[in-house]
Amino acid sequence: MSKLYLSAPLPFVGQKRMFAKHFIEVIKQYPAGTIFVDLFGGSGLLSHITKHFHPESRVIYNDFDNYRQRIGNIPRTNRLLSQIRQISEQVPRHKPITGKARDRIFELLETEERENGYLDFITLSSSLMFSMKYKLTINGMRSETLYNNVRKADYELCPDYLAGLEIESCDYRELFERFKDTPGVVFLVDPPYLSTDVGTYKMYWRLADYLDVLSVLPGHNFIYFTSEKSCIVELCEWMGRHPSLGDPFARCQRREFKATMNYNARYTDIMLFTVPELPPDNAA
Ligand SMILES: C[S@@+](CC[C@H](N)C(=O)[O-])C[C@H]1O[C@@H](n2cnc3c(N)ncnc32)[C@H](O)[C@@H]1O
Repeated sequence: MSKLYLSAPLPFVGQKRMFAKHFIEVIKQYPAGTIFVDLFGGSGLLSHITKHFHPESRVIYNDFDNYRQRIGNIPRTNRLLSQIRQISEQVPRHKPITGKARDRIFELLETEERENGYLDFITLSSSLMFSMKYKLTINGMRSETLYNNVRKADYELCPDYLAGLEIESCDYRELFERFKDTPGVVFLVDPPYLSTDVGTYKMYWRLADYLDVLSVLPGHNFIYFTSEKSCIVELCEWMGRHPSLGDPFARCQRREFKATMNYNARYTDIMLFTVPELPPDNAA
């Protein structure tokens, strides 16, 4: 039997490793041969686990972020991290890397990028920056304090992690269109967090984007992930209780007030109002 990974081999914000156990319980209930489509594949963890328990099934992994490229570059990333480990060996763990050591790390990154044309910025960020901070360019990293967070051990090579998956890389709507009429298909639906710029994905998700995803659910089997923070379940339950409400603001006009609290905190207050319906005589 293939090896089972319960967490993604390389750092990935939003990977569902904490749901692995529950996910396995659900996935095992589907009959052999069921087709699974992982619309928001991320690190591929859900696709991987699914294929492990359903080796005969088609499992389609939507690798929107090109995670497979990161996996393919693990040997290179390990080599780079071992050079960084040597440069920062005098720096205590989790302490800032400054001065010459910091300069040497940037020289190393620049050489690597120039000669090999690839750096795994997400793994590098999690090795060298404050927790949950990510920069996707060397210049971006230059604006940050570097910390000695490099793990002691190499990342495990995992040639079998994506084995057997059908890999796509496209907008989830395109993939959904292709599979929506496939009998018995199960959609794995784990969209980006609402309105949080996690800095590693390629986009910023607004409420409307988040709600659009709901349209893939009716009439299909699915495993959907969300967070209490997004209030999406509460919103849907409420809409279920008020199915005929429609959009109460549809006939409104809108004015906005944009306020700046400080250099990085802004908000917009909104006034929505109905326009008085004047009797025909008063109409201009
Ligand atoms: C919460 S993560 C999924 C995590 C994944 N289930 C895992 O365990 O690693 C959401 C993913 O959706 C991707 N994404 C963003 N916009 C997308 C789109 N329009 N179509 C498909 N995927 C998209 C993000 O880049 C990110 O990889």
